[in-house]
Amino acid sequence: MIAISLPSSTPEPAELPILSRHWGEPESWTLRNYVAQKGYQGLKAALRMTPDDVIAQVKESGLRGRGGAGFPVGTKWSFIPQGAAPGGDGTPHYLVVNADESEPGTCKDMPLMLASPHMLIEGVVIAAYAIRASHAFIYVRGEVAGVVRRLRHAVAEAYDAGLLGADVLGSGFALELVVHAGAGAYICGEETALLDSLEGRRGQPRLRPPFPAVAGLYASPTVVNNVESIASVPAILRNGAEWFGRFGTEKSAGYTMYSLSGHVVRPGQYEAPLGVTLRELLDRAGGIRPGHTLKFWTPGGSSTPMFTAEHLDVPLDYEGVGAAGSMLGTKALQIFDDSVCVVRAVLRWAEFYAHESCGKCTPCREGTYWMVQIMRRLEAGDATEDDLTKILDITDSVVGNSFCALGDASGVPIRSSIEHFRDEYLAHFPGDGHPGGCPFDPSKATVFGEGGTQ
Ligand SMILES: Cc1cc2nc3c(=O)[nH]c(=O)nc-3n(C[C@H](O)[C@H](O)[C@H](O)COP(=O)(O)O)c2cc1C
Ligand code: SF4
Repeated sequence: MIAISLPSSTPEPAELPILSRHWGEPESWTLRNYVAQKGYQGLKAALRMTPDDVIAQVKESGLRGRGGAGFPVGTKWSFIPQGAAPGGDGTPHYLVVNADESEPGTCKDMPLMLASPHMLIEGVVIAAYAIRASHAFIYVRGEVAGVVRRLRHAVAEAYDAGLLGADVLGSGFALELVVHAGAGAYICGEETALLDSLEGRRGQPRLRPPFPAVAGLYASPTVVNNVESIASVPAILRNGAEWFGRFGTEKSAGYTMYSLSGHVVRPGQYEAPLGVTLRELLDRAGGIRPGHTLKFWTPGGSSTPMFTAEHLDVPLDYEGVGAAGSMLGTKALQIFDDSVCVVRAVLRWAEFYAHESCGKCTPCREGTYWMVQIMRRLEAGDATEDDLTKILDITDSVVGNSFCALGDASGVPIRSSIEHFRDEYLAHFPGDGHPGGCPFDPSKATVFGEGGTQ
C-alpha cells in the first residue's frame, strides 16, 4: 500500500492552473508523479470524513457539473438514497463517469485523462465513497484508444497501490472501477443512453422519470457526472469549499477548462476562473489569426446559440451567457473569422445532428433530415425566402418536442444564425447578376489554408 499524507492545514494559494497544472510535465500520468504533486491527499482527507460530510463540502463549494447543464454536483450526489453502510438502503449504488466527449468543439476531457488520469481516479474514489457506491465505471468514447489505454494503466496502478479494491487505503471502503470503451455515438453521451449502452443495449435515451438517481444503471441509484466535474473534486477536498469559491463568480464558483478552436493563433485548452470573457481568453490565445476579424463563435459547443463580435465581453459563466441569450454548455469556444460562410458552417452542424439522431422519436428523426435538405438548398443558392420560413417552422416542430436534448440542439445553430446573419442567407439567392450560391471562397476559411495559423 502506498503512503499518502494528509493535506496541509493551509490551503494552496488560489492560483491557476489547477486541473491542467501538470499537463506539460514529463510522465505526468504516472502514479509516482501524481502522488509527488499532492495526489490522493484529497482522498485521504475524504476518508476521514463521513460520506454525508463529503457531500456537504462539495455542495458548499458550489461546484457545478461541467458536462453541459451546470447542475450542482453535491446536490446531485445528495439525491442518492442514503443508508448507514455502502448501499445501506438495500440496493447497490453506482457512479458513472461520462467520458464520451462528442459535442462538436469540446475537447477538454480527453487531454485531462491523458495527462492526469489519476486526478480523475482520485475524484472517482471520493465521489463513490460519498454516494456509498462500491462499483464505478468510466465510460470513454471508444475511438480514443490512447486514452482508454492510459486510463486502464492508471487504474491498474491504483489497484496495485491499494487506492482501489477491497480496502481503499486501509479504510475498509471497497471500490471496483471499470474503464468501459463505448461504441462511438454522440447520443451515448446523453446520460440515459449512456447507461443503456453500458448495460450492453443500443444507446438510446430513456424516458424520465425515473431519473438515474432513483433507477439508473441496472435500475439502481446512479450518479452520472462529467470527467471534469469529478476531476475537480480532489482539490476541493484538499483545500476546502471556501478555497474553491475564491475562483469564479457568486453563482458559478471555481475554475474550468475553456476549449478554444478554429481561427485563433494558439488554439487549445485554457484554464480560467468562470466568468472570464472571450476577449481575455483571446489575449492569451494570441487573438484571431492575422489579417482577419472575429465573425461568430459558440460559447458552449454547436448546441448553444452562436455569439458574434458584440459578445466579446460577456462573462463566460452560467448566468452571464444565459443573460446574453445562449448557454455555457461545455465551454467549447469555436471561433470563426470573416472568411467563413455561416450558412456552410451551419450546414455542417445540421449534417452532424442528422447523422447522430438515434431515430427513437419522430420529430428529431424526420426534422433533422429535412433541416439538412433545406440547408443544402440554401447553401447551394437553390432556395427561396419561403425555404427560410420553412426551415424555421421545422426547427419549431423539433425543438421542445423531441425526446431528448439532441433534438432540441439540432435547431439551435440554424435559428441563431438566421437571427444574426439573415442577410448572408439572402446573399446566397440568385439575383442582381449573381447566379446564386456561396459567395465565400472555402479555401480561405480553412485553418491550414492561406493565412492559416498552422
Ligand atoms: C446528445 C447529448 C450528448 C451529451 N454528451 C455528453 C458528453 O459527451 N459528456 C458529458 O459529460 N455530458 C454529455 N451530455 C450531458 C449528459 O447527459 C449529462 O448531463 C452529464 O454527463 C452530467 O454530468 P455533469 O452533471 O457532471 O455535468 C450529453 C447530453 C446530450 C443530450
Ligand atoms: S431527440 Fe433525437 S437523439 Fe433524442 S431520442 Fe429523439 S431521435 Fe433520438
